[in-house]
Amino acid sequence: MKDQKIILTGDRPTGRLHLGHYVGSLAARIELQHIHRQFVMLADVQALTDHAHEPALIRQSILEVALDYLAVGIDPKKTTIFIQSLIPALSELTIYYLNLVTWNRLKHNPTVKLEIQQKGYGENVPAGFMIYPISQAADITAFKASLVPVGDDQIPMIEQTVEVVRKFNRMYNCSVLVEPEAVIASIARLPGTDGKAKMSKSLNNAIFLSDTADVVAQKVKSMYTDPGHLRVEDPGKVEGNPVFTYLDAFGRDIAKIADLKAHYQRGGLGDSVVKKYLLEVLQAFLEPVRQRREQFAKDPAGVMQILFKGSDAAAQVAQQTLQEVRGAMGIDYR
Ligand code: TRP
Repeated sequence: MKDQKIILTGDRPTGRLHLGHYVGSLAARIELQHIHRQFVMLADVQALTDHAHEPALIRQSILEVALDYLAVGIDPKKTTIFIQSLIPALSELTIYYLNLVTWNRLKHNPTVKLEIQQKGYGENVPAGFMIYPISQAADITAFKASLVPVGDDQIPMIEQTVEVVRKFNRMYNCSVLVEPEAVIASIARLPGTDGKAKMSKSLNNAIFLSDTADVVAQKVKSMYTDPGHLRVEDPGKVEGNPVFTYLDAFGRDIAKIADLKAHYQRGGLGDSVVKKYLLEVLQAFLEPVRQRREQFAKDPAGVMQILFKGSDAAAQVAQQTLQEVRGAMGIDYR
């Protein structure tokens, strides 16, 4: 296909995926798989960099996240879904690239810095965690991906990858590696049900793609809205009100949502009415996802087969790039 590009993206398998994942990158992947050559990776090696003590969680999450992918419509006929640890070339590339980046540069990666703080590592950061942006550069470049659909917290990883690519191609006087570009969703970050800036499993403010209808109803009911909207007749705020952000992300009836917003801002529209509509909207989106998930979940061995087949295909591509990398470095002895 003309103008067909290569896409590589992925998720750390440390739990089921939620609506924030959907808005931030799954939705883009579902669209892009029809146009481009797409690889989606279950980043178990990266997950180990901060979950070395929980390999069972990672193993179990490989299947859970794969089910989430298949349930939302990532189609294994169009997208190569694979497991990072089954591609040894990625680890080898990481080792070569590590020599092209300084320790000081790694220390200044803003996302890594934030995560170190959040995880309370202090001085005791696992070395593997410190260098995961370089392993991510290996993931992206192994497939010569030019597009990377990710949440906005991943922008520093793409920047660091671009630096590795430029340095490698300059140092070894070649054009083996391809510079990637991040694809960021228009609603780059879905707030949590508690109104916090980011939906996240660890903040306990997430609606999961696999939540039952009852659980979703419960979560929507207790959602944070505008704390200043005390009585129905009070004017309410739409900005920063997650109920409306979710409607913008998942609602189809734009005119109705615009009416609700205007009414809410004028006053006279109760939170419970807006939430009732949001629940309808979310259930309409989630019900078919749930059903597809249940179908696939009946055959876990079949899902693993999809991942193995994808991993075989991905391993070939990455091995080819590794060979070119060794060639450019002049260490292709045989
Ligand atoms: N860092 C990503 C996350 O935390 C996962 C990931 C690993 C990734 N390798 C990647 C994303 C390569 C995009 C491209 O979700």
